[in-house]
Order: sequence, then C-alpha cells, then structure tokens
Amino acid sequence: MNRWDLNIHRSTVPPLITLAIITIILFIHPTAAWRPWPHHNPNTTNLEFGPSKKYEGSSEFVKLRYHMGPVLTADITVHIIWYGTWLRTEKKIILDFINSISSTTNQSPSVSGWWKTVQLYTDQTGSNISRTVQVGEQKNDRLMSYGKTLTRLSVQSVIKSAISAKTKPLPITSKSGIYLLLTSEDVYVQDFCQNVCGFHYFTFPSIVGYTLPYAWIGNSKKQCPGACAYPFAVPDYIPGLKPVKSPNGDVAIDGMISVIAHELAEMASDPLANAWYAGQDPVFPVEIADLCEGIYGTGGGGSYTGQMMNDGDGATYNMHGIKRRFLVQWVWNHVLNYCTGPNALD
Ligand SMILES: *[C@@H]1O[C@H](CO)[C@@H](O)[C@H](O)[C@H]1NC(C)=O
Ligand SMILES: *[C@@H]1O[C@H](CO)[C@@H](O)[C@H](O)[C@H]1NC(C)=O
Repeated sequence: MNRWDLNIHRSTVPPLITLAIITIILFIHPTAAWRPWPHHNPNTTNLEFGPSKKYEGSSEFVKLRYHMGPVLTADITVHIIWYGTWLRTEKKIILDFINSISSTTNQSPSVSGWWKTVQLYTDQTGSNISRTVQVGEQKNDRLMSYGKTLTRLSVQSVIKSAISAKTKPLPITSKSGIYLLLTSEDVYVQDFCQNVCGFHYFTFPSIVGYTLPYAWIGNSKKQCPGACAYPFAVPDYIPGLKPVKSPNGDVAIDGMISVIAHELAEMASDPLANAWYAGQDPVFPVEIADLCEGIYGTGGGGSYTGQMMNDGDGATYNMHGIKRRFLVQWVWNHVLNYCTGPNALD
C-alpha cells in the first residue's frame, strides 16, 4: 500500500507522549517515510514535523510481523496493462527497470542488489521470495475502456477485461503472476495525488473471477509531479526546494520507477494482504516499502533523501540496471530492523 495516513493518533499510547517519543527517536534514528503531499492539513498531529509525513521507523517501534499468508516464492511474472497512450520510449524505461531486477550483470550498486532485501522475506515453510522477476505479457488499453477516471473497483474491471479479452488476453498465472496497471498522464485514479501515487491489492473473485495480486501506478506528469515524481520535481508550496536531475531524461517516468519498485516489493512480500506488514489493522497495513518511502541512501529520513549518486551529466540515481540508472527507494530489512539498499555506505 502507499498510505500517507500513518497516523500517530492510531497508536494506543496517548498522542502527545507518542509524539514526544517519536521526536526523540527521529533525532537518534531518522528513518521515516516521506513524500511531499500537496494536501497536507497543518492542523494534524504532524504539525511539529512541518509538511512531512513521518513514521516511527526505529527498530523499537516498527513491529513488522509475519501473518502466515503466502509470499511470492515462485518465479515472479509481471503482466502489464498500459492504459491510455504510452510512448515507446516511456515503456522502454519501465520494462528495462523490471528486467533489471533479476539481471546480475549490472555494475554495483545494482537493481538486483536492491531486490536482495526483498528476498529476505520468507513464508511459513521458510522459502524466500524468488530472485527471479520477469516481464510477462503486455496488453494495451489505449482507448481507455473504462474512461479517464477510474475508481479502485473499476481498476479491477480493467484487469478483468485484460484477462478475458478475445484477442491476446493476459494469461492467468496461478503461481507468482502479478498484474501491473499503468495509467497514462491524463488518467485519474481514485486518490491519485491526494495521498497515493500507486497501490497494490488483490482482485475480487466476484469482479474478476480470480484472486490475483495487482498494482496500479499512475503517470504523474500532468497531475502532481511534485509529489509522485519527487525528487525529480518539487511541489510549489515548499520554497527553496530544488529538484534533482532525473537519470533517464523523463521526470514523470523516472519518478514512477520508484513507485513501481515500491509496489513490486510489497506485492512480493504481502500479495494477499495477510503476510508481512506492521500495524494492528490489516485494513491499514504498513508494508516493507511504506516504512522506507523517501529514503534512497545512507542517512535518509524525514525530508532528506539520503546519500545518492550523480553521473557525469549531473543526473541523480542510486543503482544501476540494464543500460540505465535508476533512483529507487530502499525497503525495510527485517533481519537488521532498518531500511537497506544496495548503495548503503557502511
Ligand atoms: C486549521 O485550524 C484553524 C483554526 O483552528 C481553522 O481556521 C482552519 O480552517 C483549519 N484548517 C484546516 C485545513 O482544517
Ligand atoms: C532467506 O531468508 C533468510 C531469513 O530472512 C535469510 O537469512 C537468507 O539470507 C535468505 N536467503 C536469500 C537467498 O536471500
């Protein structure tokens, strides 16, 4: 999931005490999810933290638990639905990223090195998440069969249409098949830019006929690059903040990469929302990428991205993939109890 409402007030501890503890923790161990949401309500308990959304990311407070559900231990196949108009060059960046996850020939720090943290998660039998992630079939829904505005439920109808199409339907892969719905820049999906850049869940048999893990990620180019393509774009309401140069020359797509990575990591470790997550409430799970949102390198936390790298052209990235560089957020490492990534300096 990709939630901003990681409400401190949900805690059983009185809010003020929690806030005080968190403030202390943040100074000691500044691990905290952050994205510059435009609709921040300054009257919430987050006031002390300015516009950021923080989470108590210390080992004492993160109670990430395994809830006995399945994780994706078989080779993972990612079927893609391109909804709306997509340029070949845009698709290429995204496909290269997904194919980079299992490519071991890339220079370090690499995308496959990033996936190693995801592989640390196991199921009841002790089997790890698969190291293999490959692109499966792709389907274009160029004419936007469900319109330019989608709800969380109509997203499932889009998937239903793709798997039941008369020509070239997407296959239903029983083991470790996942579905990625990518919407183009002029498509609005429920809550997009308000508090999500993407989300993952599973389809309902009543709508789709099967229980299939899926994720949606939107192209934020026209709607909210300052939130969903941060730090390649910055929101107007934070003065003095400067965007960094994106590694593949496409601010919105380079921004989508980290969101796609976020959702893939969470789908692998919590495909049916009953495996790895923190928090008491399965309706608002905090999953392995939620815990590290906005953290791209050593020292990251709060609004600081952490140590990233720069190429010769001044573009910012933190890992190498196939023929390209990417900037991808870190994920929670449950063995070490903090966020880790391949470009860690220690
Ligand atoms: C914040 O609180 C002030 C005063 O209590 C109120 O006037 C204002 O409408 C509130 N803003 C929001 C966004 O709730
Ligand atoms: C599998 O998971 C265990 C427990 O997290 C970890 O110690 C081990 O290194 C993992 N194996 C691989 C191949 O990632």
